[in-house]
Amino acid sequence: MQLQDTLNRPLRDLRISVTDRCNFRCVYCMPKTVFGRDYPFLERKDLLSFEEITRLARSFVANGVEKIRLTGGEPLLRRDIERLVAMLAEIPGLDLTLTTNGALLPQKAQALRDAGLKRVTVSLDAADDATFQAMNDVDFPVAKVLEGIEAAAAAGLAPVKVNMVVKKGVNDASILPMARLFHGSGHILRFIEYMDVGATNGWRLDDVVPAAEIVRRITAELPLEPADANYRGETARRWRYTDGGGEIGVIASVTQAFCSDCTRARISAEGKLFTCLFATQGTDLRALLRGGATDGELDAAVAGVWRARTDRYSDIRSEGTARLPKVEMSYIGG
Ligand code: GTP
Ligand code: 5AD
Ligand code: SF4
Ligand code: SF4
Repeated sequence: MQLQDTLNRPLRDLRISVTDRCNFRCVYCMPKTVFGRDYPFLERKDLLSFEEITRLARSFVANGVEKIRLTGGEPLLRRDIERLVAMLAEIPGLDLTLTTNGALLPQKAQALRDAGLKRVTVSLDAADDATFQAMNDVDFPVAKVLEGIEAAAAAGLAPVKVNMVVKKGVNDASILPMARLFHGSGHILRFIEYMDVGATNGWRLDDVVPAAEIVRRITAELPLEPADANYRGETARRWRYTDGGGEIGVIASVTQAFCSDCTRARISAEGKLFTCLFATQGTDLRALLRGGATDGELDAAVAGVWRARTDRYSDIRSEGTARLPKVEMSYIGG
């Protein structure tokens, strides 16, 4: 029997954070003012081991999960991540992907592919170094991220998806340069509305450039037509260049929320299960794992949480809800 939540949404996707640390400080995710030298990141003993992650993954697959995405923080900072990929790749019928800032991809793409990873999504918020740096507060060249994207594609982790979070006044002038850069490249650029995740990024509705506006700006120079969704619950709305230059996506989580089709669960690096990006509390699965729960008990716990799920935060978002306490995206996983 198909596992469904209170709004009849099946459990299909699982995002697993493998670390809450990152070598970047994106303004929309880990602003430097908050995530400074003294920030209390998780300690190694608190992180789920690869064996624990794999056991949880198997339990979620038993409950219907078809896709697992490894996230963070920056997942490639977790030592021997290839070993975890190899362990998860042994689970039959799973779409195994990873979201990264791309900095370590030139070294790691081939090993990840060899371990059984299927695809990657790379975050890149601008086509020029000055804007890129204004978005992530580190001195890392765009060219290096592009090298990572090419390394991933060359290793067969394709098509590569590129995520650009748009923040008005900071990088919205990069919308067209980014579209030009990836037009005809075979990579899929996705523009993401800046969201009020976490409690540290100081989000205001005014900072959001609506997806419709993004499409309007691009189509004025590079004409676009809508394309059908690949599957139910896809976060991105697809648009195709009419000249055959490939496709883009827009993720309108603020102006056109997609909660009614949300099939995603998230596990933090310390093993808490969250059923919404905007949740305030998670279920401690690590306590079950380390307390000697049987596979049956684990499966039942996961199913119980999903059946009780009522989340639809983006549907009911307002300036008021944006001020509620929430967990950080770097903790819960992008
Ligand atoms: P694929 O189709 O497999 O590539 O996955 P995806 O479209 O889910 O892509 P990805 O994981 O790259 O998600 C893209 C971005 O969409 C995330 O980084 C978030 O900004 C946003 N997003 C993803 N899931 C959710 C969600 O459940 N709720 C909201 N509000 N935003 C989400
Ligand atoms: N708004 C939208 N997307 C975000 N991400 C992180 N923080 C935010 C935010 N405030 C997503 C981006 C990035 C991924 C790691 O997490 O898509 O590429
Ligand atoms: Fe790091 Fe990704 Fe967050 Fe940027 S969005 S700070 S690269 S985890
Ligand atoms: Fe899913 Fe919560 Fe995002 Fe809505 S806000 S799409 S329920 S994660």
